[in-house]
Amino acid sequence: MGKDVIVACDFATAEQTYAFLDKFTDEKPFVKIGMELFYAEGPAIVRAIKARGHKIFLDLKLHDIPNTVKKAMAVLSGLDVDICNLHAAGGLDMMRGAVEGLTRPDGSRPLLIAVTQLTSIDQQRMENELLIARPLEEVVMQYAANAKAAGLDGVVCSPLEAGRVHETCGDGFLTVTPGIRFADGASGDQQRVTTPARAREIGSDYIVVGRPITAAEDPVAAYRRCVADFVG
Ligand code: C5P
Repeated sequence: MGKDVIVACDFATAEQTYAFLDKFTDEKPFVKIGMELFYAEGPAIVRAIKARGHKIFLDLKLHDIPNTVKKAMAVLSGLDVDICNLHAAGGLDMMRGAVEGLTRPDGSRPLLIAVTQLTSIDQQRMENELLIARPLEEVVMQYAANAKAAGLDGVVCSPLEAGRVHETCGDGFLTVTPGIRFADGASGDQQRVTTPARAREIGSDYIVVGRPITAAEDPVAAYRRCVADFVG
């Protein structure tokens, strides 16, 4: 898979999601389905969007004991998504179990990426609440290295960390980066943001873009602008 723009479909219902996707008549954007939509609509929404011809990143961020995650991943592998994810904080055995569960009898599997530290966790919270007294970037790089050691394909990280992740884990290790805004757009609740063009320069493999596209007056034009700036 090459560089692409993944549209975060953070909608509450299937109807809203289809109404949004129906605006795209000439292209089939790569779609991210998160917890809200999945818990509301279940596996049917994944199958339906897949049947419409979209690639899917199922963003459920699994985190449990290795056996539970392995079995849950085996279920997700049957949904034929393109990317799914988990929390690297679950540890190496959990991540290895996830790869095992996700791998189909023929050896194929969706790409599996790890969340390192959530972008809502800053240095102070990590130290005071999680009792991890190390620089945040060092923790992100260690979790990325753990994910690679467990056989995962990449991480979700800030676009600003993508270059460092590639230095640590190699260029082939995928960086999937939210926190994208147009230079002339609002940043909303995202703290550390960058533009699609800058994310491309730093080396992100996939950018995840929500509100700059979903809340735009013309979502198709906003999507095309992202693709032009990021993919070229
Ligand atoms: O609307 P916006 O572009 O901020 O959406 C970004 C998407 O990426 C949301 O679905 C959000 O949950 C997700 N995400 C994030 N930061 C992370 C992990 C996921 O913003 N660290």
